[in-house]
Amino acid sequence: MKNYILLILVCIALVNCKSESKSNDVAKSTIDKKVDSLLNLMTLEEKIGQMNQYNGFWDVTGPVPSEGDAAKKYEHLRKGWVGSMLNVRGVENVRKVQKVAVEESRLGIPLIIGFDVIHGYETQSPIPIAEAASWDLKAIQKSAQMAAKEAAAAGINWTFAPMVDVSRDARWGRVMEGAGEDVFLGSKIAVARVEGFQGKDLSNEETLSACAKHFAAYGFAESGKDYNTADIGISTLYNTVLPPFKAAKNAGVRTFMNSFNELNGIPATGDKFLQRDILKGEWAFDGFVVSDWGSIMEMMDHGYASDKKHAAALAANAGSDMDMESYAYVNELSGLVKEGIVSEEVINDAARRILKVKFELGLFENPYKYCDEKREKEVIGSKEMHDAALDMAKKSIVLLKNENNLLPLEKSGKKIALIGALASDKNSPLGSWRLAAKDNSAISVLEGMQKYPDNELTYAEGAAVVYGATNFVHEVNVNTKDTSKFKEAIQTAKNADVVVMVLGEVGFQSGEARSSANLGLPGVQQELLEAIYNVNKNIVLVLNNGRPLTITWADNHVPAIVEAWQLGSQAGNAIAEILYGDYNPSGKLPMTFPRSVGQVPIYYNPKNTGRPGPKKEVFWSHYQDESNAPLYPFGHGLSYTTFNYSNLKVSAASNEVKVSVTVTNTGKVVGKEVVQLYIRDIIASVTRPVKELKGFELISLKPSESKEITFTLTEKELGFFNNQGKYIVEPGEFKVFVGGSSVTSLETIFQYQ
Ligand code: NOJ
Repeated sequence: MKNYILLILVCIALVNCKSESKSNDVAKSTIDKKVDSLLNLMTLEEKIGQMNQYNGFWDVTGPVPSEGDAAKKYEHLRKGWVGSMLNVRGVENVRKVQKVAVEESRLGIPLIIGFDVIHGYETQSPIPIAEAASWDLKAIQKSAQMAAKEAAAAGINWTFAPMVDVSRDARWGRVMEGAGEDVFLGSKIAVARVEGFQGKDLSNEETLSACAKHFAAYGFAESGKDYNTADIGISTLYNTVLPPFKAAKNAGVRTFMNSFNELNGIPATGDKFLQRDILKGEWAFDGFVVSDWGSIMEMMDHGYASDKKHAAALAANAGSDMDMESYAYVNELSGLVKEGIVSEEVINDAARRILKVKFELGLFENPYKYCDEKREKEVIGSKEMHDAALDMAKKSIVLLKNENNLLPLEKSGKKIALIGALASDKNSPLGSWRLAAKDNSAISVLEGMQKYPDNELTYAEGAAVVYGATNFVHEVNVNTKDTSKFKEAIQTAKNADVVVMVLGEVGFQSGEARSSANLGLPGVQQELLEAIYNVNKNIVLVLNNGRPLTITWADNHVPAIVEAWQLGSQAGNAIAEILYGDYNPSGKLPMTFPRSVGQVPIYYNPKNTGRPGPKKEVFWSHYQDESNAPLYPFGHGLSYTTFNYSNLKVSAASNEVKVSVTVTNTGKVVGKEVVQLYIRDIIASVTRPVKELKGFELISLKPSESKEITFTLTEKELGFFNNQGKYIVEPGEFKVFVGGSSVTSLETIFQYQ
């Protein structure tokens, strides 16, 4: 305690703590001065200590290194050789480690406590790709805000989110964790999430510092296999990969995480161009960069570093400020400084960045400010959290198909058969990345539907879910062989007016290291679907999944399909409200659904090529055995009402183009619609995609109501990065498309000068 008090006294003497609140700028420079004063007191080893992050003693989210024994971690905490811990959660546990850092180390510098708060803490909101399907930026921001509040009440002050990797390959398991395939939507969502997590004031104990990850191109893993090589050109890097990161930076994100992959031959963790030139140079990012788990030492396996010492030098010099679980900085950096391979300025810069964020969080004023048992009890799992999770879940659902208005279901007098192991599953809806959630705590679809008692509901599992699994074991799967429960399910279906089938992936079938070469319904579920269809065609298929699936057979046969992702703690309630029409679906796909795996990566905005089609002869860019078209395009999503688009108008001035359209609700119920605007730069000095989303607006319309929506396009929307990485705007002809999906209903041409 003595040391901690001493430190505070030093800080107070050197600067006036109270001036902090006056204005952001004053606060910033005040913090800079505090950081400098503190750095002056620190030994080289203590500065390196700030750059060292250890996993806690309970959960693990990566391979455990042999050095990771608890005794050593405590010893290092006491020496002031640890700047951060991850996976320490709960006030009691956080207090325990914070106490050692603050009260037993020489300078008493508090730890920053990191955790993967990806879609909630204990209360789970929908997985991020599901939230992205809402296209509702306010709701997404609120969801991040709720997650921050709950996690901060558990002692955490730093989340490793948002993941802002653009992902076009459904085989990659981590598509569940991002905002999908589009750079424009992804950038807007990145901002919403950063603002939600961080709030307006980082020192508020209900906010967390956020982390834009994984820098960069992690979503471009070859063949969708996690951790795999990314090899992309400058144009894709600047126009597709970097913009969501830049948007997060501009929104004030305080940390970045680099990535496991190599990019064009250089592991991102050791990439100077990415971290020093772009991020800290061109973008002037003044927060800090944390490595991914073990990614510094993995540079040896990449064939880039000869040993751990070499890896530490490469990473530090390239701008990776903090080492997550490689034990490379703590063991090697001081030697490297003494040998002159890493300069002391590199160490000072990294330590300065980390300390700055700690000051911003208010940890120096009160290192236990996130450790309030009373708040922990009140906030975690509270009604406020669950209400928000339910609201977000309803907004995330996408109605993919609804032939003959099979949905919504009538509320009484009907026999409903509910089939599928996932329908009663209380674990899967929690999705991947839900370390702090209580197992089996989600509301299942069965429970949700039981709240509508005036129908006769019968349930049959059909195909079993095999668990025997934790987050880190592969065996989790929907049973691959057992068809013994088909008979009962078929019997149940035979007698029903409508069959609701809940099929898809178990929660852990997507997420980190969960790449899939097959994208059909796992296990015997396709067989089950067809068997049920043979006896009752009135099927509503409810999908639970973390990635687009190739459900082409279902689309050809099943009349109604609802994309319900993994919707979190309130999943079953949200799904039931949608099925019974108490909530009108308004979600739109943030990722294209392929017809078959061979089309992947498939996305709505490829280049036109020199041989676009369709053509009668064979020589055009296509598959001979599959259509080029997706199963469901990006931006697709139906409602229980219908919308008409008309009156597309463009007025182009020299620096601004206004595009307006009238949208009318032509159905019988109130509904929300995401009005989408796309452009195409027809001829450019670097070829441009066939379509690019450049605006969207979520509107609500009563039956017969019309609204005129106006979009404004400026240089920000009309330009692109050339192959020198320079943003340019070229005058010329543009197409503009407006509608309710990327396959739009209206288009026209305008001239931009
Ligand atoms: C590895 C993942 O790639 C990263 O996203 C996560 O934040 C860390 N592990 C910590 O769990």
